[in-house]
Formats: sequence, structure tokens, C-alpha cells
Amino acid sequence: MTSPLFEPFTLRNLRLDNRVVVSPMQTYCAPDAIAGAWHRTHLARFALGGAGLVMVEATAVSPEGRSTNMDLGLWEEEHAQAFADLTKAVHECGARIGIQLQHAGRKASTAPPWQGFAPVPAPQGQAVIGPSDKPASSNAHVPRQMDADDMARLIDAYSASTRMAARAGFDLVEIHMAHGYLLHSFLSPLSNDRTDDYGGALENRMRFPLRVVEAVRTHWAPDKPLACRISSVDGVSVGWSIADSRILADRLRRIGVDLIDCSSGGMILPERDMLVPRGPGFQVDFAADLRGHTGLATIAVGQITDAAQANDIIASGRADLVAIGRQMLVNPNWALEAETTLSADHTYDHWPRQFGWWLGRRRHATDTR
Ligand SMILES: Cc1cc2nc3c(=O)[nH]c(=O)nc-3n(C[C@H](O)[C@H](O)[C@H](O)COP(=O)(O)O)c2cc1C
Repeated sequence: MTSPLFEPFTLRNLRLDNRVVVSPMQTYCAPDAIAGAWHRTHLARFALGGAGLVMVEATAVSPEGRSTNMDLGLWEEEHAQAFADLTKAVHECGARIGIQLQHAGRKASTAPPWQGFAPVPAPQGQAVIGPSDKPASSNAHVPRQMDADDMARLIDAYSASTRMAARAGFDLVEIHMAHGYLLHSFLSPLSNDRTDDYGGALENRMRFPLRVVEAVRTHWAPDKPLACRISSVDGVSVGWSIADSRILADRLRRIGVDLIDCSSGGMILPERDMLVPRGPGFQVDFAADLRGHTGLATIAVGQITDAAQANDIIASGRADLVAIGRQMLVNPNWALEAETTLSADHTYDHWPRQFGWWLGRRRHATDTR
């Protein structure tokens, strides 16, 4: 009998072979913003390794939207062509592939993590922008408050990237609305100090992010699913709350979003306030909550490392998909191995035959290798 984790899942016209998603993870190795052989090899390994959906890391919709000067981008035809090679590789290796579209906002224009995220000049003389002039941290750029022209320009940028993502052969687009980046920084009262129609009340703080989502939905293929990754809460008891997320998720559903990827955090919190404490499956409750309240499909993510744990999340109806991040870096064959672990007779029948044929025979007397 197939384990719930390995049941297929369909959203619009996209059919995933199983419920295992490779979480978007930045690799900071695209100095010219273009996906190359490294990205193709890195992501195709997860496809060979049996994941149903492989997510490309946060990819900027405009040059000044890159979080670091080594992020991927999708604002020029050359970027789209490189991504077409990547989607082809992942498809040929058996998985579906999505891209996470991103603008880093006030967390943009830094050096990579191994250089301490030190601020670097924004490209092409542009300013670092945000909802307000409040920096993300004490050593971050002081952003310029976005005006109506910035908003219009960014909506065009998201729309153009979305069209390029469709041409490049992606199966799903995810809008990054989490982790303190631009769209989350509009949503959260901790980062949005505006006094106009885009700040203050929840409805106002949601206004620009919802405009972006509407534009992406319009330019994305109607038969392909759209996901949003959100920070379900900023912290345990401060800022953006799960009640806010329920309202947002309901609005996203009405715009035509199909899937909510339920993360948390990304803001520096006032002293004495706490992020959600880390531990196995520490964000699963958010996926269950939002699934229950809105009827939307959800992805659970965060310290999901074990086959039985992941299977239980799906079997108990707490989420529709599980995203695995760092454990995939440990073992790109995580999904294949999880299915072997969960199967009654620990078979290798579902592995690519080039591997499975040999592995299945290893424990038999016929094994002559
Ligand atoms: C190296 C690294 C890069 C990441 N990059 C992204 C990213 O591009 N977009 C995103 O939404 N989350 C990103 N994350 C967060 C992961 O997608 C995931 O939510 C987080 O690592 C928790 O899952 P895990 O415990 O399975 O690793 C990143 C995490 C890591 C470790």
C-alpha cells in the first residue's frame, strides 16, 4: 500500500508524483544572476532523488531586488533561457519544478552569508527600498520609502518575471512573502510605518502585496498553480499574527492562489520578544491552522527530517505537502530513501531503475557484486 507521503497530488493541471517538496534554498553562487551548470546539477540531483517538486531558490525580479550580489535573477531574456535549460534537466530527471519570485526590499544588497551579509552598494545606482525608511537591522541599509512609481515599476517587474517563468517551462510560481523581505515588510507592523493607504490598518498593509499577487496571477498560466510563502507569524506574541495570516490567506485564495507555504520569522524582534522556538516540525501547526481555516492547500516546512514524521503530517491531514530544506542537502535521495523506509518490505522498486535494479539485489543470494 502506498504511504500518504507518496500519494500523488494535483493542483490545477499540475500533478505531482508525491508530496515531497525541496524547499527553496539560496545558494549564493550566481555573480551575474544567471543559473548555470552548478544550479542545474544541484537541483537535478533532487529530481533524480525522487522529490515530487523541486523549488528554485529565491530569484529576484529586478536587479535591486537581489538579497545578495550572488542571487539568481529573472528580469532578462538571457535569465529565462538559462532557466529553460534548468527546467528541462529537472523534468528529464523526473520531477516538477517551481520558482520562487522575490524582491528583498530593505534586506537587499548585501554580501553573501559567508561574508557576513555586509551591506554592498545597490546595483546601477539604485536605492535600497522598503515600505518605510526603517532599516532591517542596525548594520543594514537605510531604505528609501517606496512611492507610487516604485510600486508600479515593481508590479511590472513581477509581471515580466512571471511571463518569463512561464516561457522557461516552470510548473509553479511561488511568491516570496516571508522572512522580512519586501512583501512581508509591507505586511508586518514591525517594518511598515507608513501613514498612507499602504500602512496602518491590516487592510492597508496588505494592499501592495495583494496587488503584486493579482498581477502575478494575471500573467501566470491559468492552468498552473500559484503558491505564496508567508511568515505565518513574526514571533510568539508580537507583530504579524496567525489571525492576520488567516485573513491574508483567505484573500489570497480569492485572488486565485492555490497553495500557502507556511514558514515564520525573518524580522528582528523587539528585545524580550521571541521567535517561534525551533524544534522538529515547529511550523507544522501553522500549515494545519491555515489549511483548516481557509480550505487552501498548504506546505509544512521546518525541521522535517524523518520519513515517519513527514508521512504523519500528510496522513493526519495537517498539510498537503511537506518541504524539506537542509535534510535534502544532507541526502538528495531523501525522498527515495523515505519511500523505501515506509514500504512494508523496504523495496527499491520505485528507485530509478539505474540504481534500484542493483540495490534490490544487494541483499539476495543472487547478488554477485
Ligand atoms: C541555505 C538556506 C537557504 C535558504 N534560502 C531560502 C530561500 O531562498 N527562500 C526561502 O523562502 N527560504 C529559504 N530558506 C529557508 C528554507 O526554505 C526552509 O524554510 C528552512 O531551512 C527550514 O526548513 P529545514 O529545517 O527543512 O531546513 C533557506 C534555508 C537555508 C538553510
